[in-house]
Amino acid sequence: MTLLAFETSCDETSAAVVRAGEILSSVVSSQISLHAEYGGVVPELAVREHLRNLIPVAESALQKAGLRAEQLDAVAATQGPGLPSALMVGLKAGAALAFALRKPFLGVHHHEAHLYSPWISGTPPKADFAAFEPNVSLIVSGGHTMLVHVEAELKHRVLGSTVDDAAGECFDKAGKLIGFAYPAGPEIDRLAEQGNPQAFEFPRPMITEAHDDFSFSGLKTSVRYFLRDNPRLLDDPQTVRDLCASVQAAIVDVLVKKTMRAARRLRVRCVTASGGVTCNRALRRDLTAACAREGYTVRLADKHLCTDNAAMIGVLAERKLQRTEASMDIDCEIEPGWALA
Ligand code: KG4
Ligand code: ZN
Repeated sequence: MTLLAFETSCDETSAAVVRAGEILSSVVSSQISLHAEYGGVVPELAVREHLRNLIPVAESALQKAGLRAEQLDAVAATQGPGLPSALMVGLKAGAALAFALRKPFLGVHHHEAHLYSPWISGTPPKADFAAFEPNVSLIVSGGHTMLVHVEAELKHRVLGSTVDDAAGECFDKAGKLIGFAYPAGPEIDRLAEQGNPQAFEFPRPMITEAHDDFSFSGLKTSVRYFLRDNPRLLDDPQTVRDLCASVQAAIVDVLVKKTMRAARRLRVRCVTASGGVTCNRALRRDLTAACAREGYTVRLADKHLCTDNAAMIGVLAERKLQRTEASMDIDCEIEPGWALA
């Protein structure tokens, strides 16, 4: 099956062609620089960019795969959750294309697609479902932080999620207080590499609590008070690096400890992670080390598949269509608040 997928749930316009789990092409047009001057994603601007970019991005994905639209067997798009009008662009374009081609169309849950992105690897990238094993999956992005028990392929249960800010949001807001542009996660990661993570002590919210929920807004607030009480601290570049390392350590500590505890409790032997924050080097290192210590398999999404992309949407859609999941009505609607089951 050759399938074209669209992803437009937030600020990335993406199209990918997938066949038998292999990513034949993947094109992502990021809007980060556009939103940076506003300090976050502006929905109206995101939609305008999706409308402008979707067709060229789709044409580029087809061209890179060496295909014409008529050669597609199916079309898929993110159906939710996400920004309503942004979702609308990809979903309606995908459904219209499927209608024109008289091919099946499938709307996909964005987070469910994240769950399988760690199974895509290699050159060219290919989803290895044969290697699948039950796992605890951490999804960490700018909008979401959740732990999911993936009991079997296409069978999952959400264990917990953030009750306030997402981990990426915490990176971004703490970074903004330090004076970094949006999104601040990559800059904190970069500076933290030369900083001392034990220089300053920040709270690790909910780290010892038995449930699998997260909370990051208190950590952000403690950074705010810390900077209010130590205003001169930002004058010294090494202190800024130490501060970045210390804030990052608090976030990563919580993510790793809670993920490992859930894995132990559920007796899985595999841990996976995806979403933009999974690009973070300390998180990758610490989660890998914790899994090695306890003899777990660890699968971290490749960095280019951590942030939002249509390749993961296509991989999941193809798998579902192969499993004879009925393709949806072409007039299916967006699901902006769609909760992962
Ligand atoms: O998956 P993503 O593109 O989702 C959303 O749009 O929500 O993730 C973006 C988030 C941002 O909050 C960004 O700061 C964070 O991922 N991020 C990082 C790193 N790279 C991206 N956070 C920490 N370290 C990084 N290297
Ligand atoms: Zn995402």
